[in-house]
This record gives sequence, C-alpha cells and structure tokens, in this order.
Amino acid sequence: MKIIKSILTITLASVLYPVAGIADVNAQSHDSTEAMTYRPVYHFSPPQNWTNDPNGLVFYDGKYHIFYQYNPEGDTWGHMSWGHATSQDMMKWEHEPVALQDYPNGDGTSTMFFSGTAVADKNNTSGLAKKAGKIPLVAIYTAHIDSAGRGISQSQSMAYSIDGKSFTRYEHNPLIDLHTTDFRDPKVFWHEESKRWIMIVAQPLDHRLQFYASPDLKKWSLLSEFGDKLGDKSKIWECPDVFELPVENENGTRKWVVTLSGGHPQQKGNFGMQYFVGHFDGKTFTADPLSYPLYIDYGKDFYAGIIFNNLPDNDQRKIMIGWENSWEYAAATPTKGFRGQMSVPRELSLYKNEKGEYRLRSFPVKEVSNYRGNILATQNSVAVTGSKLLNSVGGKALDISFVIKRSAAEQAGIKLLKHGEYQTLVYYNKIDNTLKIDRTKSGNVSFSPKFPSVESVPLSDDVSDIAIRILVDHNSVEVFANEGKQVLTELVFPVSDKVTYELFSTDVATTFKNLNVWEMKAAME
Ligand code: FRU
Repeated sequence: MKIIKSILTITLASVLYPVAGIADVNAQSHDSTEAMTYRPVYHFSPPQNWTNDPNGLVFYDGKYHIFYQYNPEGDTWGHMSWGHATSQDMMKWEHEPVALQDYPNGDGTSTMFFSGTAVADKNNTSGLAKKAGKIPLVAIYTAHIDSAGRGISQSQSMAYSIDGKSFTRYEHNPLIDLHTTDFRDPKVFWHEESKRWIMIVAQPLDHRLQFYASPDLKKWSLLSEFGDKLGDKSKIWECPDVFELPVENENGTRKWVVTLSGGHPQQKGNFGMQYFVGHFDGKTFTADPLSYPLYIDYGKDFYAGIIFNNLPDNDQRKIMIGWENSWEYAAATPTKGFRGQMSVPRELSLYKNEKGEYRLRSFPVKEVSNYRGNILATQNSVAVTGSKLLNSVGGKALDISFVIKRSAAEQAGIKLLKHGEYQTLVYYNKIDNTLKIDRTKSGNVSFSPKFPSVESVPLSDDVSDIAIRILVDHNSVEVFANEGKQVLTELVFPVSDKVTYELFSTDVATTFKNLNVWEMKAAME
C-alpha cells in the first residue's frame, strides 16, 4: 500500500492530465500561440525534456552548479537522472552533460537518481581525491531501485567528481539503507561547530525528518528525528533542508530553519513549502513555539526548494531555488520543447514580525537586477480610478515594482500579460486584507482543472503602503510583497505575445507610488 501511495504521488498528475487544452485555445483565433514555446528567458529551464526538483545546488571550482531531476528521454517524469548546468551568476546557465544517468542493474532491476545534494569536500574528508590539492565534488542522492513488480527501495548513496563534470559512483553504496520504500532527498552540509557532515533526510509518508552525522561522507550515524507533532501534514514531506540565519535587526541572534516540501496554505491537496524556526545543537532540531504551519510561498508553483552549499566565504547568503511547477498538473503544462523550470534564486532572511514571532522572507537575489534592460516606465506617483494602461510597457520579460497606498478601493493592483479578455491579476484585496493572484483568465488554463485559481497571502495590517515587485517571464509570474514577506509564485500561459499592462483600482482612486518597469534581458539562450 505504501509503495502504491508513493508512486501515485509522483505519477498521478501525468496519468490524470495528459496534455490537453492547447487545441481549445488555438481554436479561438489567437495570433501566435502556435509559435509560443513558453520558454522563459531569465529562469533556468532544461535544454529539452522534463525537469522537476533542483538537486545539488553548490558553488564549486569558481562556478555555481545546478543539478536537477531530469528525464533524458522525454518531457514527462521518468528515467530520473541528474541534469547539470553551470553559471557565473546563478542566472546565465551553461548546459553540461547529464551528470548521473539512470541505469539498468542487469538483474531486471533499475536505479534512478532521485533528489539530493552536492557538497565540495574541501578537506577531502572522504579521501575520494587521490591527488593533493584536488577537491571532490560529492553528490549524495537517493537511489530509487525499481525491481519491476517486486517492489521499490529507496536508500542514500553517493557519487563523486574531481573535474566537476563526470561522476563515479561510490563503490560501497548504499550509505544508508533502512530497507524501506519511502526514504529520500538527503540534504548534506558541513557543520563547522562539530566539524562533521550533517544530513537531513525525509521519511515522507510518516511526516518525519531524520538527522545523521558523518566524519567522511561515508559512515553515517543517526542523530535524531523531527516531525510528527508540528506542521501541515495534508501531503507527504519531501526535500528537506536545514540552515542557520541571523535575525534582522537583532545583533548577534542566530536561528536555525528547517524547510520542507509538503502541503499548500489554502488549497488542500495542492503542493507548497513550509518551514520551522528553532535551534539545532549539532544533534537535534528543536522548533520554537510559533504559529505553525508556516509557508514560504503562497502561490501554487514553488516546490522542492533547497539552498546552495559552499558559497564563497565572503558570501553569507542563504539562496534558495525551487521547482516552479506543481505535481498537480506538471505533466500537462503546454510548454513546447521542454517541461519544467526553476524559480529565480531567492535570498532567505529571518525577521521578527509585529507579534514578535520569527518569519522567513525570500526575495530575488541582487544578481536578478543585473538583467534589467531598458526602463519602460517610471513614475513617482500616479492616481488611478478604474484602469490605466501603461502605454509604454509591453513584452513578456519584465521586472515591475510599485507601492500601493492603501485607499478606500476594494481592490487595487495590476493586470499583467493582458490580451483581450485574458489577463493575470495581482492585487490588494481590502475586504480580507490579502494580496491575491488570479490566473483564472490568464490564457490557456484548460489543460488541468487544478490550474485556474486565485491564491491569497495575508498582509499584516500595520503598514499603510504595500511594496510590490513582480517578475514576469513568459510563463511565469513571481510576486514579492514587502521585500519578500509575502510571496506568490505561479505559472501562466498567455494566449498571445501582444500583451499590455494596466494598473487598476475599483470604484475609488488609489495612488501608486515609485512605479518602475524594466525590460528583462535574456540570460539563457
Ligand atoms: C519531489 C520528489 C522527490 C523525489 C523526486 C523524484 O518533487 O518527489 O521526493 O526525490 O521528486 O523525481
């Protein structure tokens, strides 16, 4: 039963929602949908085929590396391997050969490379570098072994590379085997205080995370477990991470954060990411008593996020990239030539909210702004009643920011990617004091009944201005309010390249301040 549940989680979407809906839209005489691939220009997407989770985000040998769940053989989930790309700035990625490719074991079973992590073993604790001065790049992954009808096993294994490109599987795998079907997604980091490696890994069906320690990445011992009492358990728990952050404006206070992928804040049955704030003493994570569950992103398309390992010593940031998609409909999204992509890299920070509780915020890394091109609109202040066309703004790769001065209007915000009656709305909703994204009429929404929806994130009522930043990139809308205190990430599939943008305020005037709209330059070919 457990096995069935696990496989269902992964493949249900592909079975239920085969590609549909493109034809419906094309039939409605929209000019250019046939040519539209929906490929983003400044978000990472694979050269072709399917991706889901980012794996092994690491800085190694002077470059950022992204490894990612990849199907080398098609644009739906399967043959899970680790794709690979490298970058100087986390934005412009160069595709590298597939790093870890699924393989048959010769006895009728096959091994897939599920999600995991990569670390630069700077002190060669593993002894995997035979020549002095070389640093092994070690990938720790879940070996998903399918015995074709005789069951599934998931265990933690590793592979290593000395040149940062080609990997050798460690000869004494597995590293940790509990002889179970659902045990996955190891995240490993070097814990300086105890001078050893720490792994956090999920037992998804039990909503349990385990911590292990190792001196050399090879021998692992169980330290502790976390879970079962706190958090949202409407979905299985996958892809955990753990890291330490300073608290903003509290000199010297540092807290530990555990993140994981599980349920969604509003839409039960949907997927999202949650977090816990507390203390990790090198063995055990103890969560502070906060009002859990807490979520990183209130949109429906941010999942499986993990943070980079081994950033240079002068870069203390914790930077997360997530899979910008949802298992509910990922196999059916109407992209062409690829399927699946990543969010922009986001810097995570911790702050205390007005009730004195710790909260996480996430905001695009500063490298994103380097891709700003022409400024299409800039205005200190504009009062809007009804709708106001931003007549100098067009195109589908934009960085938009403005401040909404709360007014008596019930709703005030922006219409994005507008073509005829199609549009994506991002707005402040006075009645329930939320920020919303409405993609019900965003374009092609018919490929899955789970896709068209309105998501909301609660706003705190102590601020009169709402600062909004929106990153638009062809099929992607990422909304960051108040420097990332509220975040909504959603895919959209507009029906045309000829799109316009409008500010709006229902019934009475709302003032929008500091409006700036930049065209975004392409980072990826
Ligand atoms: C999360 C996940 C992971 C697993 C991977 C398989 O999206 O289900 O738990 O390792 O995808 O592709």
